[in-house]
Amino acid sequence: MAEVKPASEALDAALALLAAGEVVAIPTETVYGLAGDATNGQAVARIFEAKGRPRFNPLIAHVASMAMAEKIAVFDPLSARLAEQFWPGPLTLVLPLREAFGIHPLVTAGLDTIALRMPRGFASGLIEKLGRPLAAPSANRSGRVSATTAAAVAEDLGDRIRLVVDGGPTPVGVESTIVKVEGGKPRLLRPGGVTVDEIEQAAGMPVERYGGAVIEAPGMMLSHYAPGASVRLGVAQVRPGEALLAFGPIRAANAGNAVALRNLSGRGDLREAAANLFSYLKELDRHGATTIAVEPIPADGLGEAINDRLRRAAAPRDTEMTTD
Ligand code: TXA
Ligand code: MG
Repeated sequence: MAEVKPASEALDAALALLAAGEVVAIPTETVYGLAGDATNGQAVARIFEAKGRPRFNPLIAHVASMAMAEKIAVFDPLSARLAEQFWPGPLTLVLPLREAFGIHPLVTAGLDTIALRMPRGFASGLIEKLGRPLAAPSANRSGRVSATTAAAVAEDLGDRIRLVVDGGPTPVGVESTIVKVEGGKPRLLRPGGVTVDEIEQAAGMPVERYGGAVIEAPGMMLSHYAPGASVRLGVAQVRPGEALLAFGPIRAANAGNAVALRNLSGRGDLREAAANLFSYLKELDRHGATTIAVEPIPADGLGEAINDRLRRAAAPRDTEMTTD
């Protein structure tokens, strides 16, 4: 079972775990977050594993300073103004990603944008000390409500993680508001702790919403996920001209003829496979093969999310279906 430690005594223990690529539940002003080093693929894979999330939806990266934020993403003038007004606080901004910083692609689900937020309190000090951004979705099992107390986190995830930092009940109690500036205009991707009125005041213009409907996971449009090559799943035999995305120690027939090969995990480890998934798909896509053949991947644990991602990649191109 996870140890529950008061925030005043937990900084060193949390730092040590995060530096070792482990995950830690931490308080933020909105809800508790399940945090891992956003530059470490195995740590990010552990987040999905602990939550039991059946999908790799993109996560929010938490920063401690504007200097850190500007190294990770590109700020347009309006986003910069919103950050100045609401950070630290319950506002998340979706911004173009600077790949050179080294945010792991599992954080962004392979997108070229990133959701950034600067939290208050314990989380902020922790990120500053670590010197790296923390990826942190809400600290609850997939399908359950977000946790606003350390006790709720421990009840939900206590058997899956080592440390819950207790900062008391979270003051805001709902997740951050997510805004993306497009063409100089603010768009609401998720309502949350900062009100639309407050954002409109700061922006000096109305906030647009996606068709009036709340899209729970706006990064999840199928079209965002399609590589250039078509994708063939569950292959037992590689066809001429195909690139091969392998898994485990045993190869599909004719694997030697593949125009390119990447193995998600030679030892068949799903956590390692999850951490490699987005970069390997991109790498194979760059080889210009018309088809990426994918070996079967077990459906248990993180395999569910890996298979979900691969099914999206294999789906017909122009589908405009959302997935959550
Ligand atoms: O208050 C919060 O925001 C909490 C605390 C822990 O900070 N975190 C949180 O994270 O709610 P999570 O992972 O549950 O929600 C992340 C949301 C998802 O709806 C996701 O689709 C969206 O952010 N998102 C992340 N990256 C995105 C991107 N590049 N484009 C569009 N949406 C993105
Ligand atoms: Mg959540």
